[in-house]
Amino acid sequence: MNKTDSNVLFQLVFCCICVQVNTASAQQATLKEAFKEDFLVGTALGNAQVLGKVPAALELAAKQFNSITPENLLKWESVHPEPDKYDFKAADQLVDFGRKHDMFIVGHTLVWHSQTPKWVFEDEQGKPLERDALLERMRDHIHTVVGRYKGRIHGWDVVNEAIVTEPRDERKGAWRETPWSMIIGPDYIQKAFQYAHEADPDAELYYNDFDEWKLGKRDYIAKLVSNLKDNNIRIDGIGLQGHWGLDYPTVTEMELMFQDLSQLGVKLMITELDINVLPRPSRHTGADVAVRFQDRPEFNPFATGLPDDMQKQLANRYEIIFRIFHDHRDSLDRVTFWGVDDGQSWLNYWPIAGRTNYPLLFDRNYQPKPAFYAVLRVAEDEK
Ligand code: GLA
Repeated sequence: MNKTDSNVLFQLVFCCICVQVNTASAQQATLKEAFKEDFLVGTALGNAQVLGKVPAALELAAKQFNSITPENLLKWESVHPEPDKYDFKAADQLVDFGRKHDMFIVGHTLVWHSQTPKWVFEDEQGKPLERDALLERMRDHIHTVVGRYKGRIHGWDVVNEAIVTEPRDERKGAWRETPWSMIIGPDYIQKAFQYAHEADPDAELYYNDFDEWKLGKRDYIAKLVSNLKDNNIRIDGIGLQGHWGLDYPTVTEMELMFQDLSQLGVKLMITELDINVLPRPSRHTGADVAVRFQDRPEFNPFATGLPDDMQKQLANRYEIIFRIFHDHRDSLDRVTFWGVDDGQSWLNYWPIAGRTNYPLLFDRNYQPKPAFYAVLRVAEDEK
């Protein structure tokens, strides 16, 4: 072997060792540790996970994250399926898990138009309730659920998605018409926040929605926050869901979103982060669970695995997004991913059922993806 060859060989061996060391140290590294000076890093847990049926997911959640949100199990239909029946089994497990691991626990969600049974809005004869009766029902629900976890659930998504992204009728504005708004009137939002505060005066209270990177949504969020503040009603933060794609929102849109919303004087949090890598069947960018499309083969191109170039695109996208989060760490309190691993993600079922999506940092075997290392790199670089 001549001198040049042995140099090349040496460099090769050295590089391999470096890569191995890097990978090994990154595997040791955790998201919660990497961003501990900046914001909490959370995940959403589902029923099967909290009931102990997927121990690997729980183990990963405990290792990587310092905050948890229930994915569905505290929604009205799950926790209060019938007028006189509450089911706290899964929620109790979630709270125990969070406390055991010293996590910031988020309650999601008290008042929403979706995943709320029809009976909530009807009397015993199936006729729509009057305002006072529905307020009473809302108050009871909030007091029962928030009261049960008083001092243990630290923050609540009190109202979810009360604003539409593109109002159909400009004169009516962008307040979403739901049974809550139609029966109670626009002050249902104030009432929900009041009741939650009564039930646990120390809990943080949030408004949660999607598409805040669009100006119209932000204008209405500003109205909502000032309306609550003008009436001396507690609101601590705005949850920005963060169901985003590889090409939206743009960097400028995200920057403007943070710039505008950080003026409101409440905390900001990314509450349901995932990045869709599959083709979109429409220009719809929101997270409206009622929107559905028929499957076609071209909408499910990665059924057998995500190609390397897509892994790279996803990693780059996460890196860009986390650089922006890091830049706005003074107003950003928490970044929560909507799920632990790709297999858990709702994006395998929405807006088309039965696709194979790859929106998170851990794959279906709970292994870190290139996107995980890209996110950690942001924390490393910014030290
Ligand atoms: C919305 C809700 C969440 C969840 C997602 C989809 O963003 O806030 O609770 O239902 O849709 O999983």
